[in-house]
Amino acid sequence: MMKNNRQVEDKKVTRAILTVALAAAFTLPLQSCNEDVPVAEPFAAPPAEVIRVPVEELDADTKEAVILGGRLYDDWFSVVTSATVPSDVNPMAVFIGGYLATPQDRTLYDEFVGLDGVDPLKPTKPKQYRCKTCHGFNYAGSDYFDAGIMGAADNMTLEEIQAVIKDGFTLSFGSDTTKQNVPVHGFGDLGLGDTAISELASFIKYGVVNVDEYFYPTSPKIGRGDSANGEKLFQQTVGCARSSCHGADGKKIPFGPAEFVGTIGQNEPDEMLHKIRFGQPSEPRDGMPSIYDKALTTQDAADIMTYTQKLPAQ
Ligand code: HEC
Repeated sequence: MMKNNRQVEDKKVTRAILTVALAAAFTLPLQSCNEDVPVAEPFAAPPAEVIRVPVEELDADTKEAVILGGRLYDDWFSVVTSATVPSDVNPMAVFIGGYLATPQDRTLYDEFVGLDGVDPLKPTKPKQYRCKTCHGFNYAGSDYFDAGIMGAADNMTLEEIQAVIKDGFTLSFGSDTTKQNVPVHGFGDLGLGDTAISELASFIKYGVVNVDEYFYPTSPKIGRGDSANGEKLFQQTVGCARSSCHGADGKKIPFGPAEFVGTIGQNEPDEMLHKIRFGQPSEPRDGMPSIYDKALTTQDAADIMTYTQKLPAQ
């Protein structure tokens, strides 16, 4: 277990430092971190006028790369089976380690490093290195890190995104006496090859969407898709309801104890949308297909997601 020998009273402080250090890391790669340098927000949210080409309208090669990248983003260890899962705790855990002020933070840390008990369906070590763990299925960050990737799509080139994934960067945080340098990413060294990295970059550049557009601004999140169209697609067109797949009530394949399509739809609707769009990476491509393989659209995926929220959760 990581030893936490820093004292961080406030998450926001740590996060602010993280943001500053990162901005400096990206804008001044050759200089040491200088706190007096005015820091721009290099990866701020995309400007409103940026118009994304819907995935279904991308050219065939780009679309294919985006689908493969979306699956890698979810769980690249399931796809790149030659990669070895690192046996050590991800160095990024020190950030969460700095948040141990409250029991809830402690729980987050335990979850992240896999001390919360091993669910055989979800091995915990790879989890620390899965993109979605840190960046979320809403692409805006996760419980663990405020690390959104939406801005990267609009502000970074494909090559820059690839370099950030492959080589990674170092975050410096803490005061002079407690300063720590933490390596982030560096996935090339973990066995993620150039093709996979390029697919991931394509997904980030062309495949991320503003997930909020598909929900009412409520909590819990309720899909605003066309549920009747979603039902038709789920029950007939796409084949989700086939008896060899999820069944008409979505309960045929449990994902965990008492966890079904309806459960994920209600509790993890962002994840549901991502899986409908790109498929299930631990399955063969035609095992659970991407919606785009069926010549359907992101809106169709949102319609299905909305429908799954009506399926039984237990
Ligand atoms: C252990 C946590 C963690 C994992 C796992 C992780 N990242 Fe990151 N990533 C970060 C942090 C922290 C940042 C800096 C975030 C920021 O600037 O807000 C970052 C930044 C990025 C950026 C730059 C985007 C930006 O706008 O700052 C990209 C692109 C990215 N990650 C892609 C990936 C991909 C692809 C994967 C999976 C192969 C991945 N990340 C896995 C923590 C992680």
